[in-house]
Amino acid sequence: MAGLSERIQRLKASSTIAFNTRATELRRQGIDVVAMTAGEPDFQPPEHVLEAAREAIRLGLTKYTPSEGSLELRQAVCEKLARENGLSYEPDSVLVSTGGKQVLYNGFQAVLDPGDEVLMMTPAWVSYPAQVQLAGGVVVPVTTRPEDGFLPTVEAVAAAITPRTKVLLLNSPSNPTGAVYPPQLVRELVELAAEHDLWVFTDELYEHLIYEGTFTPAARFARDRTLVINGASKAYALTGWRIGYGAGPRDLIKAMNRLQSQVTSNANALAQHAVVAALNQVDATRAFIDRTLQAYRERRDVLVEGLNRLGLATPTPQGAFYVMADLTSIDPDEGKAALRLLEEARVAAVPGTDFLAPGQARFSYATSLDNVHTALDRIEAFLG
Ligand SMILES: Cc1ncc(COP(=O)(O)O)c(C=O)c1O
Repeated sequence: MAGLSERIQRLKASSTIAFNTRATELRRQGIDVVAMTAGEPDFQPPEHVLEAAREAIRLGLTKYTPSEGSLELRQAVCEKLARENGLSYEPDSVLVSTGGKQVLYNGFQAVLDPGDEVLMMTPAWVSYPAQVQLAGGVVVPVTTRPEDGFLPTVEAVAAAITPRTKVLLLNSPSNPTGAVYPPQLVRELVELAAEHDLWVFTDELYEHLIYEGTFTPAARFARDRTLVINGASKAYALTGWRIGYGAGPRDLIKAMNRLQSQVTSNANALAQHAVVAALNQVDATRAFIDRTLQAYRERRDVLVEGLNRLGLATPTPQGAFYVMADLTSIDPDEGKAALRLLEEARVAAVPGTDFLAPGQARFSYATSLDNVHTALDRIEAFLG
């Protein structure tokens, strides 16, 4: 066979997917596995959003929208950013993409030259390093520790800046750690980025999933150098519909859209119409978020208490729907430890390897409370 590009050969498949595949394989063999690997809500989307999707079909929305997204949705995004985040944007500063993932990808491609450095706190979401690498960039990790609640210090971030640093990437609430950055920390990190003339990419996909603390929109402190990344996947349980959006300086958004227009064109037209309802029907959406948040909180509390009781040290996260547990008492190699949990306890968690989180694994509690209890019982029996 003719060869593959070096770029693609260097690109790793996400281990989240690899682990899910193994869990599915076991299930197919009739083995019951509690999957705590999912990065998606286990709830059905709110009814008013489903109804808007049906309406989109009735309206015959079968054609391309503008590459940057329908004006209707971009306007709804602007209203959301003003209403919820106190940020003022015009629709031409907003890009709708196929998930927050594509917004990030477009963003890295738009600003990085080969060798440019991207600062990110680790543990970090698995797709960041891969996307940076695909754009020719270099990942510079700033390690955060469980005992600090996975919060960085401004000094540690400052010490990692070099003349090649181009982007400071923030993700609060964080996947995988669940850390929610306090307002003062967000402000100081953005001010640091401004001092060094860096882009700030702020991944706010988990904005609405906060149990303690408050959400702080980074763009408030430096709108002109900030790309806001958000979407419909996590808050409205719409992962499969693939709608994300970015908001930022007009020239950056235009550049990202130039790329998108040559690669995928617009995100799915029916889903765009439905997400307008999620953004605009404020009360119905708020009720959905409150209901799901309450369920997540209950599961989180049970899971964190249980894992700690079993000797797997797990800090209490303030947001998102993941916990990071220390598995070194099972095996110092987190890959082996997670594999033992899967094969012997029949509980699937994602090893920290690709999150740059040695010794740890991510447990998702976007699964039923019953499953959380079952997982804990199984881990207890396994640890004997
Ligand atoms: C931190 C983070 N950012 C972005 C995304 C992308 O989500 P989507 O492409 O579904 O909008 C995810 C999904 O897992 C995520 O966890």
